[in-house]
Amino acid sequence: MSLPQPLLQVRGLTVRFDLESGTIVPVNDINVDLAEGEIVGLVGESGSGKSLTALAIAQLVPHPGFLTAQHLRLRGEDITTMPAEALRYFLGSEMAMIFQDPMSSLNPALKIGTQLTEATRVHRRVSGKELRKMALERMADVHISAAETRLRQYPHEFSGGMRQRAMIAMGLMNSPSLIIADEPTTALDVTIQAQIIDVLREINREQGTTIMLISHDIGVIIEICSRVLVMYAGRIVEDVKISELMTADNHPYTEALIAAVPAFDSNRDEPLPSIPGRPPDLDNLPPGYAFAPRCKYVFERCHHETPPLLRIDETHRIACFLRTEPPEGATRE
Ligand SMILES: Nc1ncnc2c1ncn2[C@@H]1O[C@H](COP(=O)(O)OP(=O)(O)O)[C@@H](O)[C@H]1O
Ligand code: SF4
Ligand SMILES: [Mg+2]
Repeated sequence: MSLPQPLLQVRGLTVRFDLESGTIVPVNDINVDLAEGEIVGLVGESGSGKSLTALAIAQLVPHPGFLTAQHLRLRGEDITTMPAEALRYFLGSEMAMIFQDPMSSLNPALKIGTQLTEATRVHRRVSGKELRKMALERMADVHISAAETRLRQYPHEFSGGMRQRAMIAMGLMNSPSLIIADEPTTALDVTIQAQIIDVLREINREQGTTIMLISHDIGVIIEICSRVLVMYAGRIVEDVKISELMTADNHPYTEALIAAVPAFDSNRDEPLPSIPGRPPDLDNLPPGYAFAPRCKYVFERCHHETPPLLRIDETHRIACFLRTEPPEGATRE
């Protein structure tokens, strides 16, 4: 029996910037499959390359960055070789992007209803009446009440949480098969954050939409995702099921990210725990493995070589010599 084709298949995805200070590679040879209906997290500290990975998947890498890939297949179609017009149409109907700051994606001068229906009007031949009905349904999907009134309002009349819901509703208009949500809850307070996460979970459950949820906070990802991709200095260093987190088998960086999640009962007057050291400058990477200077298990080899991301079982990939080629006598507590 052959396995079902993944919804998204990313091979060799790399983004480079040629800067005056030299070339940096903030997204470095990403290889991953997303199955239909999965919710996958992408986690890493600020600057690890999460947003650029999302933008690269959507073919939106900002100038002067350039993208290379062996292929990038969505529903089996390689979008790196599609003509511009076909690509715009295909991504417009198959993929939705949701960003941290909805205000930057919403037009302050247009009513929410107009913005909600705009993309669909361009993409499909649908009557005005039908469009309105769809907009009301999508507003209901994200639990915006009094939707008739809300559609006639402008973005500034919405609260931050409402704007994020409106963005999600907008993303849902064309029934995408993939939603990429980049830190969608980061700017919101904890209660609203939980509500937005619930909305995403419900969309996944009821509409079967595949979701890639990007966050610097592994706590948020553990709450909703079934799998997590952990990113460090442009590379995926671990790809693991959430149920297999917090074991001695995890990447040392993943372990450190989990240790830095504040406990529910933590004293708010105390400083938040953080990972010792700081992420490397991409234009001044240490020799060997980028994580080596911060790794508490580091050994000689890590200072000279970068471990490849290797599969250690059917659902687990990891880039750490200690796990894939441990030196004699090596142990981890
Ligand atoms: N427009 C840009 N020009 C030059 N370098 C960039 C640009 N955008 C991102 N980068 C580089 O890529 C790195 C990763 O960025 P990003 O993907 O936004 O990280 P994250 O979302 O994980 O915080 C940044 O630290 C920066 O060095
Ligand atoms: S390869 Fe070395 S530096 Fe990298 S995570 Fe493993 S032990 Fe640490
Ligand atoms: Mg980001």
